[in-house]
Amino acid sequence: MALKSLVLVTLLVAAAAIAVPMAQAQLGGLLGPLLGLLRIQGVLYCTPNGNIGVSGTSTPVFPNALVQLQCGGNVVSTTTTNLSGTFSILLDPISFVTSTLVSGCKLVVNTPLASCNASLPSIGGLESTLQQVGSSLLGLLNVANLIPTGFLFNAKLN
Ligand SMILES: *[C@@H]1O[C@H](CO)[C@@H](O)[C@H](O)[C@H]1NC(C)=O
Ligand SMILES: *[C@@H]1O[C@H](CO)[C@@H](O)[C@H](O)[C@H]1NC(C)=O
Repeated sequence: MALKSLVLVTLLVAAAAIAVPMAQAQLGGLLGPLLGLLRIQGVLYCTPNGNIGVSGTSTPVFPNALVQLQCGGNVVSTTTTNLSGTFSILLDPISFVTSTLVSGCKLVVNTPLASCNASLPSIGGLESTLQQVGSSLLGLLNVANLIPTGFLFNAKLN
């Protein structure tokens, strides 16, 4: 009996691992994917205010920027924007709650804007709070999606 349930759990974990290999790799834990995920995703632009306006497509993106998720002043996760300026952070819902992410956490970009446009400041960085924009299904998982409310330049970041 005990062996049967162990086999079942093993199969479930294996199925989850196949369904979301990327999430699996980032989580480090096996239980998270069985319950769901929190995903923070956005595009970083090479401007002092994240508002790209109606002609947003002509605003250059900010590639290779270090994006930190900070909660209560602590760095809890780090990622880098890709060549399209896109970043994505996956979080385990056992350790993180959407309401806490919205009320107590922010995204901080420590890479100075000068690294994507030499005319922009070489000190400080961009930061943004978070908002939830619904949820979606990824395989069997319920994924709560969060996005930045809008990046703004803060000269005092370092
Ligand atoms: C950056 O990541 C996004 C989201 O995963 C993807 O759609 C886009 O193609 C990627 N860009 C590059 C240049 O890899
Ligand atoms: C770089 O920043 C300057 C100052 O904000 C701006 O006028 C210029 O258009 C930017 N260059 C690019 C390629 O976006």
